[in-house]
This record gives sequence, C-alpha cells and structure tokens, in this order.
Amino acid sequence: MAMTADGKIATANHAVSTFTSRRDFEHLLELRATADAVMSGARTVNSGEVNLGPGPARFRRLRLKKGLAEYNLRVVVSGSGSIDPRADLFRYRFSPVIVLASERLSEGRAKQLRALADAVKICGGEQIDFREALHWLREKWKVRRLLCEGGSELNASLFEAGLVHELHLTVCPKIFGGRAAPTIADGAGVSRLADATRLSLKGMKRAGDELFLRYDVLACKSASGE
Ligand SMILES: NC(=O)c1ccc[n+]([C@@H]2O[C@H](COP(=O)([O-])OP(=O)(O)OC[C@H]3O[C@@H](n4cnc5c(N)ncnc54)[C@H](OP(=O)(O)O)[C@@H]3O)[C@@H](O)[C@H]2O)c1
Repeated sequence: MAMTADGKIATANHAVSTFTSRRDFEHLLELRATADAVMSGARTVNSGEVNLGPGPARFRRLRLKKGLAEYNLRVVVSGSGSIDPRADLFRYRFSPVIVLASERLSEGRAKQLRALADAVKICGGEQIDFREALHWLREKWKVRRLLCEGGSELNASLFEAGLVHELHLTVCPKIFGGRAAPTIADGAGVSRLADATRLSLKGMKRAGDELFLRYDVLACKSASGE
C-alpha cells in the first residue's frame, strides 16, 4: 500500500489514488513477482486501469527464475458482485481471473460474472469468509503467497480475520487531508488497544523523499499454518 504522510491512500473524493514515484511502481511489480496471486477489492478494480498483472517481461522473467508461473493469478473480492463487467481486469486474458463473492451475489450477477471470470467462488453469507476463501485458493489454485493490494475495506477485513503476515508500506511526501479519505485499513476498526494488529518493523529504505517500510504482523491469528 502507498499512503501520504497523513495516512491517506486516496483523496476523499477517490479521484486521486496514484500519487507515488516510478520507483514505487517498480517496487509494486517486484512484490507481484513474489506472489502466486494478486488480489484487490471491487472498488479498487473499478477505479481505473487496474489489471493486476505481472507487468513487463523483466518482471515475468524474475517470476520464472523464482520458480513461479510467468503470470500471476488475479483475484477480485466483490461480495455483492459490484465489480464492473467492463473493468480492465476482464479485458486482459493473460492469466485466470477469480471472483470471490458472498451469498449477497444475485443469481443474475453470478451468471454474468461466470461468463467473464475463470471462477466465481461464494464464501460466506453477508461478508466473505476469508479463512475459507484463502483455503480454497490454496487447495484449488495452489496459491501459497497472496499479495493483497487493497483497498481499505478489503485490507481491514483481512487484518480483522488475522490473515495478514506482512505489510509493505510506501510513505509519500504529500498531505491529502479529508476526514472521508480512505486509509490503509478502514472497516469498523478496533475499540480496544488490546485488539490492535501489532506490527514489527523489519525493513526500511529511503529513495528520494519516499520511505519503503516492511512490517511483519505479530500474533497473526493464522500464524499456525494457513
Ligand atoms: N494508495 C494505494 O496504495 C491504494 C491501493 C488500493 C486502492 N487504493 C484506493 O482505495 C480506494 C478503494 O478502497 P475501498 O476501501 O473503497 O474499496 P476496496 O477495498 O477496494 O473494495 C471494496 C469492495 O470489496 C468488496 N469487499 C471488501 N471486503 C469484503 C468482505 N469482507 N466481504 C465481502 N466483500 C468485500 C466489496 O464489494 P461489493 O461492493 O461487491 O460487495 C466492497 O464494496 C480507491 O480509491 C483506490 O484507488 C489505493
């Protein structure tokens, strides 16, 4: 995730969410080159040119060198199926696209999405049951390392479920302000300090005016294996 110095990942009106350097974009592609699958929430995918692919040939070569498939799988999270059928993600056919939805998905929408995606998996009633969803991704699609690229609601769900192991954060030299501007994890949030997700800083690099931080998540609820 990339955030401004005041902790925002987009402006309050969501019009601006690309605000980092070229170096940060390369960093994103380097991270994608470590993952079997890349995942985003429906609003992020709907927000513009998001295809979740591995990028240029040198990143695909990096993947092959690491023993990964040349192209990562792409996963979009859309409980009610609000993902736009015209989204870029569906236009590029270089790797399978998987939609994770909940029982809020109507039959009509499910049919439409099944025609566009390689799989539509329903996990959970109102909200997606991510423990079940990630287990299915591992069993059915051999996903061992999943990179989640936000947005805020999806990140919050994963933190809440205790399913995040690492956080890569780029802090950018800007202030957006705006109390409605999203942060890296919105959702309902915790109300007790004891329930906060605790992090340990494992890496820090400065490039120009940007900081690249890498945290391990401590006491991740799924640390025992998933
Ligand atoms: N700066 C950055 O690094 C960065 C990265 C990513 C995104 N962004 C920005 O962040 C904004 C989008 O973030 P966002 O928080 O509004 O949306 P989001 O997390 O991208 O997507 C939210 C949608 O995902 C689905 N979803 C998420 N959690 C779910 C759950 N537990 N169960 C069922 N469905 C779930 C829902 O889809 P349904 O509506 O279909 O139910 C929900 O409406 C955009 O402006 C984007 O550009 C910035």
